[in-house]
Amino acid sequence: MDRLISLMTFVVTTGLLISNPACGVSPHKNDAIAIHFALVGPQAIDEDAIINIVSQRTTCELQQISAAYESRYGNKIIHDIRDHLTGKFEELMVALLTKCTDFYAQELYNALNGIRSNEKVLFDIFLTQNHIKLQAIQDVYQNNYQKSLKDDLEQFTTNNLKKLYIKMLETQRNESTDINYIDAEKDARELYHAAIPEDGAPKPDKFVEILTSVSYTQLRHTIMKFNDIFDQHIETVIDNNFVGDFSRTLIAIVQYARSKEGYIANRLYDGLTNDLDYQSLIRLMVIGKNVGLQSIREAIQIRHRVASEYFVSVS
Ligand SMILES: *[C@@H]1O[C@H](CO)[C@@H](O)[C@H](O)[C@H]1NC(C)=O
Repeated sequence: MDRLISLMTFVVTTGLLISNPACGVSPHKNDAIAIHFALVGPQAIDEDAIINIVSQRTTCELQQISAAYESRYGNKIIHDIRDHLTGKFEELMVALLTKCTDFYAQELYNALNGIRSNEKVLFDIFLTQNHIKLQAIQDVYQNNYQKSLKDDLEQFTTNNLKKLYIKMLETQRNESTDINYIDAEKDARELYHAAIPEDGAPKPDKFVEILTSVSYTQLRHTIMKFNDIFDQHIETVIDNNFVGDFSRTLIAIVQYARSKEGYIANRLYDGLTNDLDYQSLIRLMVIGKNVGLQSIREAIQIRHRVASEYFVSVS
């Protein structure tokens, strides 16, 4: 099977997803020297050495390694990777060593400009990046492509989906980790009655409003409350009353609120099982590193699922 999958397995099993996102002060000169040697040294290219370093460093450390590399050798590390590596392995290494905002802006640009039309690109990025990061991505998008992310979103999406994405782009989601139990119950009831009104059609605006503004912690309690009161999963109610990519995006938000680790694990699993969507796998590796997933239990589940999928597919 493809070596990218073995790389994914290696990266996941060596703790990428549970690495500490805190940034050290060391310039990581040694890593830069080791990568340079592995890429352009006298022997054949040592891919394992590169994987070993890259998979064990945080996003922040990789930026420092890039800077140390450039100041020592006068070349950008990404240029040397492009020159010496090939295929999907090259793509993954370039993605991991590119500044996150540049990478996400590029992914969005490709998705919105028909180069790769994929709603999953949109929700993978919009769910996992907070308001400040989305602002930074918007600036980079404008700068790199001389186009506005908001204009492109408005062109690519219609109706309710458009409202949902514009709201996600513009609303500062509450980032508190406090829970207001009274609001959780009130919102659960409002969502239920918006999906299944006593008269008239379902009211999507209520979903757009609540699912884009309350914190993920609060939303997690709201959907648990929903289940308690109405004895149904909110995903089922959304699926029965809304359609298409709007419905799928609402469900993605709910699943991310339930567990961000679980969400990323499921998407990784999707990428492996459904016609091996390499670009999604690469994006999720970047997101996983960037989000700095902390839950060991979830990470072990991810490892188990990714690794067993790999071993099943090679045998
Ligand atoms: C943020 O959410 C918490 C918990 O739900 C709530 O108590 C607080 O008032 C919210 N803050 C704002 C600015 O809405």
